[in-house]
Amino acid sequence: MNYLHEVRNQYENYPYPLRNPEDEKKRLLSTEDSFLERINHFCYAGKQNFNNFRALVAGGGTGSAAIFLAEQLRNRENSHVVYLDISRESMKIARQRAEIRGLTNITWVHGSILNLPELDLGAFDYINCVGVLHHLEDYHKGLQALGSVLAQDGCLGIMVYGRHARAPVYQMQSLMGLINGGETSMQERVENTKIILGSLPPSNFFKRHERDWLSEVEEYGDIGIYDLFLHSRDHGFDVIELYDWVEHCGFHLVEFIGPQFESRIGYEPQTFISHPGLLGKIAKLPSPHQQAIAELLSGLIQRHSFYLSRRKNTKALLDDLENVPFFFKSTPQGLAEEIQQRPGEKISLTSPDRISLQFMPSRFTAPIMRHIDGNNSLKIIFDRIRHELNRHELSDRELLADFRPIYEIFNRISWMLLRHTSVSPFPPAHLLQERVSRKYRQSPSAEE
Ligand SMILES: C[S@@+](CC[C@H](N)C(=O)[O-])C[C@H]1O[C@@H](n2cnc3c(N)ncnc32)[C@H](O)[C@@H]1O
Repeated sequence: MNYLHEVRNQYENYPYPLRNPEDEKKRLLSTEDSFLERINHFCYAGKQNFNNFRALVAGGGTGSAAIFLAEQLRNRENSHVVYLDISRESMKIARQRAEIRGLTNITWVHGSILNLPELDLGAFDYINCVGVLHHLEDYHKGLQALGSVLAQDGCLGIMVYGRHARAPVYQMQSLMGLINGGETSMQERVENTKIILGSLPPSNFFKRHERDWLSEVEEYGDIGIYDLFLHSRDHGFDVIELYDWVEHCGFHLVEFIGPQFESRIGYEPQTFISHPGLLGKIAKLPSPHQQAIAELLSGLIQRHSFYLSRRKNTKALLDDLENVPFFFKSTPQGLAEEIQQRPGEKISLTSPDRISLQFMPSRFTAPIMRHIDGNNSLKIIFDRIRHELNRHELSDRELLADFRPIYEIFNRISWMLLRHTSVSPFPPAHLLQERVSRKYRQSPSAEE
């Protein structure tokens, strides 16, 4: 097998992230890139029905992405997930989780990403590879190996670390490298790190930022300590390097999809700069340079999460009136009524990812919002508005022009997405869990 032995050793001893298979009886964890409705909007123009769909989870760890994808694909025809990892211990935990859920649509493969071209697993429509490629000796070879098993019109959901925002962690890794230089016991390295964490003076760079990072240690204990401070291979990317890398491997970066400011909004200079003159100058720079400015300016991007495709223009477009607009993750309650009750006033909302948003409704925002129910296409919404307002002269173009800026505000933070009307709606995660929770409620013997 083709992998770094230190890295495998780490994940055999400290499977990441810490997961208790028993928790599957109560809840389904979602992973940001793997929502089918999101993959559909960004990578398949909203038209993927996910039948005959094959997903690969490369470096699947303790299984969250494989399980979330498999749960969503359970009721699609002839669809399947392949899990791949070099760590047998991680795979054991992932399999236990899937067994508890009664999932039978996952194939388990012990192997390395770098061996994918020879593993004979077939072609995949979607590849999830989150938190893995920055741990390879050569991340170019890693991405190329993933590309070798990607269907021609397939796409990838990738997460790699952000170099700038992770600077305090990299300083700690250098410090622990010096302290642990001759230490062969992994557990001793962890114990030394705990002593150091308790000895950091207020002036220490990591200490000054520790509240951004310690949740990992609190949640995952020794596993978190190893992953954060003791990793033998951990490469952080800045935006420019990221574009060079993916383009060199033949891919087009579709969109950034991380939570909060790790989504598109965090890569836009106008999120942080309001001076029109300076913004005008920045707008003349190539797009990756603009995004690099936002990354350095905010210091908020600890992870780059994004979709890749070989094709350009894979996003669903508002111009297709057969598309159904829908709120992703949660629908703001009473929005149409609030707009109607406060004419001429700005509306303030907080997104499911806790991003504050303010917008001035336009003429038809209230009726449009009233008809967005996850089933109505834009065509149906516009027809209903014409009928209700008795304004038959209103053209689709006028209504679309009215809605577009509002849609952009929501879509920019992934709160509103599009699905083609030919594709049936996606059940929310809590409904997917209901099947499993019911099984353990109804039959306590299944708990044994
Ligand atoms: C930080 S964990 C991430 C796990 C999972 N993707 C997640 O996001 O929860 C990295 C995983 O990548 C696996 N890994 C590292 N190098 C690999 C390789 N060359 N091929 C396959 N898996 C690898 C490790 O064993 C580990 O389970």
